Amino acid sequence: MRVLITGGSGFVGQCLCRRLKEAGHQLLVVSRSPDEVRDRLPEGSDIRRSVLDFVDTPPDAIVNLAGEPIAAKRWSEEQKERLIDSRVNVTGDLVMLCEQLKASQGRMPKVMVSASAMGFYGDQGDREVTEQTPPHDEFAHRLCKRWEEVAGDVTDFGVRLALLRIGLVLDVGGGSLAKMLPPFKMGLGGRFGDGKQFMPWIHREDLVGAILFLLERDDLEGPFNGSAPHPVTNAEFSRTLAKQLGRPALMPVPAIALEVAFGEMARLLLTGADMRPARLQEAGFEFRFPTLDKALADILG
Ligand SMILES: NC(=O)c1ccc[n+]([C@@H]2O[C@H](COP(=O)([O-])OP(=O)(O)OC[C@H]3O[C@@H](n4cnc5c(N)ncnc54)[C@H](OP(=O)(O)O)[C@@H]3O)[C@@H](O)[C@H]2O)c1
Repeated sequence: MRVLITGGSGFVGQCLCRRLKEAGHQLLVVSRSPDEVRDRLPEGSDIRRSVLDFVDTPPDAIVNLAGEPIAAKRWSEEQKERLIDSRVNVTGDLVMLCEQLKASQGRMPKVMVSASAMGFYGDQGDREVTEQTPPHDEFAHRLCKRWEEVAGDVTDFGVRLALLRIGLVLDVGGGSLAKMLPPFKMGLGGRFGDGKQFMPWIHREDLVGAILFLLERDDLEGPFNGSAPHPVTNAEFSRTLAKQLGRPALMPVPAIALEVAFGEMARLLLTGADMRPARLQEAGFEFRFPTLDKALADILG
């Protein structure tokens, strides 16, 4: 299969590209800087600057991962726009690609798996959250909603769409764990605020497994929660990580300190949702790493 991946150079994308290549698929990767990312991608990847550069090479499937990192900078109004635009523009280009393929009677992609995030649900306290749960209206929700709505336009062209609302992705070499490990390794880790907020998480290998599962299963469409079946609170996460590292986790960070340091972005650390992968499990997807203990033992081992 010929698979077009946006954000293929990223933390999730690199692992996905490796697995797709191993499975014998042909990779079309969209990157803003093809020369810089070439050595992060499997040999033979066709890397071009824009989605629309691939109109002469129609993909059979699309995986849409591109977007400005959510937690890299304070959420100023300008940064919020960048977070939205970077996702909406690339996703809009994918819709335009379908339009152009239709106009030129090119082969249409069969399926698109498009990233979204747990932020779709906003702050849900300790309520159990499935794909049916009504969202709480806040910036993270509005961002994900807009992203999902634009992706939804591919269905007008007969493309099957699966939206993956991703939890915190865990693995070595990037993501949130790369930021958490240094203080925890020094014994300076601890919960954020009261630690009661939920942190849905997923091992990167399982996330990539879920993407491949959704690409292959013709009967699956709509939103899917992309997180392990056993989410934990922030306090549990801190305890489990510290235990795996053989260090104490006695240094809680007060909510007020995070609010002063990060402004509105502190909500990423201080609020959450007890998100469950109800639809993936109903469909028979099996997690290799269902519990945090197992996932961290694999990653840190
Ligand atoms: N990692 C997580 O814990 C997590 C959790 C929930 C949701 N997600 C979502 O899942 C997707 C993949 O996550 P990831 O961790 O692999 O992301 P990532 O490492 O930050 O990579 C995303 C890719 O997007 C491209 N990109 C970055 N800024 C961009 C911009 N301003 N405009 C256009 N493209 C830009 C980059 O590709 P080039 O530089 O090659 O163009 C980058 O490699 C993201 O959309 C993210 O929001 C991730």
